[in-house]
Order: sequence, then C-alpha cells, then structure tokens
Amino acid sequence: MDAIEEQDRIAQALRARLRERFHTQNKNPLAMVHTFGCQQNVADGEKLKGILAQMGFSFTDSPEQADLILFNTCAIRENAETKVFGNIGNLKQLKAVKPALLIGICGCMTEQPHVVEKLKKSYSYVGFVFGSHSAYRLPSLIQSCLDEGKRVFRVAPDDGCVAEGIPALREEGVKAWLPIMYGCDNFCSYCVVPYVRGRERSRRPERILEEFKELVQAGYKDITLLGQNVNSYGKGLEEPVDFSALLERLNAVPGDFRIRFMTSHPKDCSHRLIDTIAKCEKVCNHIHLPVQSGSSRILREMNRHYDRESYLELVRYAREKIPDVTLTSDIIVGFPGETYEEFRETLSLLEEVKYISLYTFIFSPRLGTRAASLPDPVSGEEKGRWFRELLALQDEIGLEQMRPYIGQTVRVLAEDWGKAGEGLLQGRTESNLIVEFPGPPSLAGQFVRVKVESVKKWALLGNLA
Ligand code: 5AD
Ligand code: SF4
Repeated sequence: MDAIEEQDRIAQALRARLRERFHTQNKNPLAMVHTFGCQQNVADGEKLKGILAQMGFSFTDSPEQADLILFNTCAIRENAETKVFGNIGNLKQLKAVKPALLIGICGCMTEQPHVVEKLKKSYSYVGFVFGSHSAYRLPSLIQSCLDEGKRVFRVAPDDGCVAEGIPALREEGVKAWLPIMYGCDNFCSYCVVPYVRGRERSRRPERILEEFKELVQAGYKDITLLGQNVNSYGKGLEEPVDFSALLERLNAVPGDFRIRFMTSHPKDCSHRLIDTIAKCEKVCNHIHLPVQSGSSRILREMNRHYDRESYLELVRYAREKIPDVTLTSDIIVGFPGETYEEFRETLSLLEEVKYISLYTFIFSPRLGTRAASLPDPVSGEEKGRWFRELLALQDEIGLEQMRPYIGQTVRVLAEDWGKAGEGLLQGRTESNLIVEFPGPPSLAGQFVRVKVESVKKWALLGNLA
C-alpha cells in the first residue's frame, strides 16, 4: 500500500473516534485551519483541510467553536513569527476550559529547531507539531496523539519527494492555486525558505496537467501556478520539460480561463519564457518579477545572480514582446550595509521600470542565513524613513500607470470581495489591475466588461459596459 493510501485508511478509521472524543454524535467535529504567509502556504492549507475532511471534520473560523485548531505558519520575517506566537498564546485559556481541544502547529516555522524547542518548553498545550514534509502524515500524527495521549513532534528532514494524491479542499470561487514545484535551491543570503522548505523539486507535468484540467472542469477561471522560482521548473525530472513547455501544454487546454504564475526569479527568466507568455493567449500579460534592490552591489550581497543592467534588459525585452505587459515586484529596504545612495538606486529603478504595485519589506534577520551575520549599522528608524520614501514614490508611479486606463473598457473576472451585498463588485484585469464597479452579486465568477471612469490608490473605478 502506498504511503498516501495508508494515511487515507487511518483517516477513515479515525472518524468514529474523533466524534466520540468531541461528543459530536450526529454532527461532524469542527476544525479551524489558520494559514499565515504566502500563497504556497495557502495551497498547503487547502491540502491540510482536504485531509481533515477525510477524517470527518467540517470547518469553522471561530476558535471557540473548533474541536481542532491548526496553525499553518510562516517564517519569512520576524513579525510573521511574532504574530503566530501571539495567536498560539491566545489559545491557552481556551484549552484550559476545553481540555479535549486538539492544537497543532505546522508549516515553515516548525522546520526551525529553535522554534520547536520553544513550543516544547513554553507552550505545553500544543499537542502536535509537524513540518511541511510530514504534512501528508497528519492522520497518523493525530492517531498517535490520541493513542498515546502525549505530545507529538514530527519534523522530518526533507526527503526530496513530492507527495502526490492528497485531496485539496479549495475555497469556493473561481480562483485556484496550483503548486507545480516545492522548495528552493537559490539561497538568497537573506532568506530562510531554502532551510525550511528544503531542496527544489518539480511535480511531474502529467500530474499538473491532470489537476489543471480538473480545476478548469470544476469552473475555476483564474489559476495561479505556484513555486518559489517557477522559471526553474522541470530540473531533475526524467522527461525534459521546462516552464515554457509546461505553460504551452496548459494553454492548450480548452476553456475560458486565465493562467497566472508566481514567482519568477529574474536570473532564470529567459527570452524563451517571455516569447511563450506573448504567444499563449490564456497566460496573463502580468509578470511578478521580484528585483529586491536596484543596486548591483546589494544584489551581489543578496546572492541574486543578476545585476541592475541585466534586470533592466529583461524588462525592456518583455515590454518589446508583450507591449501591454504589467510588472510587479518585491523590494527589501535596509539590507545589511545598504547605504542611502544604494537605496536611491532602488528608487531610480522603480522610476525606470514603472511597476503597477509592489510588495515592500524592511530587512528582517533570519537565524542561520548569511545576511543575519553581516554588520547592519543603519538604525530601524532610518530604515523606516527610507521605507516611507519608497512607498510614497510607488504610490505616484502606481497612479501614473493606472490613469491611461480612464475611458478604456477592460475585461475583468468579477468577484465578490465582501461588498456584493452593497451592490459593489471587484475584479482583476488580465494585467492584474483591480477594478471596482457596481453590479449584481449574480455576476460574481463571470468575465464582464467594465468601462473605467476614474482611479484611486490601488484600484480603477468604473461601470459595467
Ligand atoms: N527580510 C525581509 N524580506 C524578506 N523576504 C524574504 N526574506 C526576507 C527577509 N529576511 C522578502 C523577499 C521575497 C519575499 C517573499 O519576501 O522580498 O521576495
Ligand atoms: Fe527565498 Fe531567494 Fe528562494 Fe525566493 S528565490 S524563496 S527569495 S531563497
């Protein structure tokens, strides 16, 4: 029996036992899965929910109602970890009044030994802890918890495998996340991801295609392919296939849908890939291409394997081949040793590239990474000032990028973002611009045409055309 089938069997066998433990008799016990961090984590959270559903759980967002609470954690920056510990701390009281409550912690934070130590020592009410590589074994972990009545810690080292066949329980709607690869081999000097998510490994293309077709058939219309660096997809697979070839195969699937992907590492973003995006009509004309810094010296220190000039050359090529392409980026402010002049090179790069939006971060030292041991003389307050300067500039650039859309009619995938009851819908254009417009809730999930009337920070405003 393969490992996943064995877990299925354990999950089925646990159903009656869990109902008994939680006294739910004719109802399903309730689980709360709270995911922190990136889209890769969101996709992992959907799998964890799929496994819990096999064990007979239904889901709630309320910790008070939950019989099992699982925090799927993020380690990318210190404030992400602080937030998770705050949330775990808040459960102490609840566990005291509800002793049967099962509390579990999983995901990136649990791959760090110092975090596991802290959970062992200071959070005795956390019942089980496991890392991403052990996620498919959730049924047997819970079984051990119940059998032995003890705390279970399973943080297995990365075995380099891809666990296929775990059912994902996705959010309802028309957007879906589809992991195509796991882990990262790039070791950017500031980043903890290669340590917590292990070596890069790609899913086989036929498994991706199969899941992709299922998503299209189920009505998903905006499917994002996920990986820490999708541009290096395919390395190590028996079949010679790269990301461009994968995009072509997915683009050939019949149906009215859009394909997105993230994240693209500039060092591996080839002209061939840009040509593929240009010619595949279902692949969106938006590229998330994190630059991190506009200074070649800082990029070298970050171990990014490209410099300012080669990045700008790539952007020029993309604009030439895909004239309406939009770009977004991640920026780190205050990398150790960065000077104000070097920071200003990032500002001037923003002025040159003209991103539609940015994800911006102040450098956060992560234990075990090279950058964490570099001298970092610039104060937090100073970095805060630089950060605000960056945001102000990007606000201007973002607005400047959006204004030309006034008067144009754009095609968006309408969504209910919580205001449909008030008659307000939102949607995204192919180029990933947000559009707000009045419309009936029944349009959510459909492609509609909207005439843009004005712009505000972050969004275009318009009316159905
Ligand atoms: N400090 C600040 N930002 C970071 N990122 C990754 N590691 C760190 C860190 N230690 C940012 C990078 C990356 C994004 C996902 O998070 O910009 O692209
Ligand atoms: Fe981190 Fe760099 Fe890998 Fe992205 S490519 S996950 S920033 S190490």
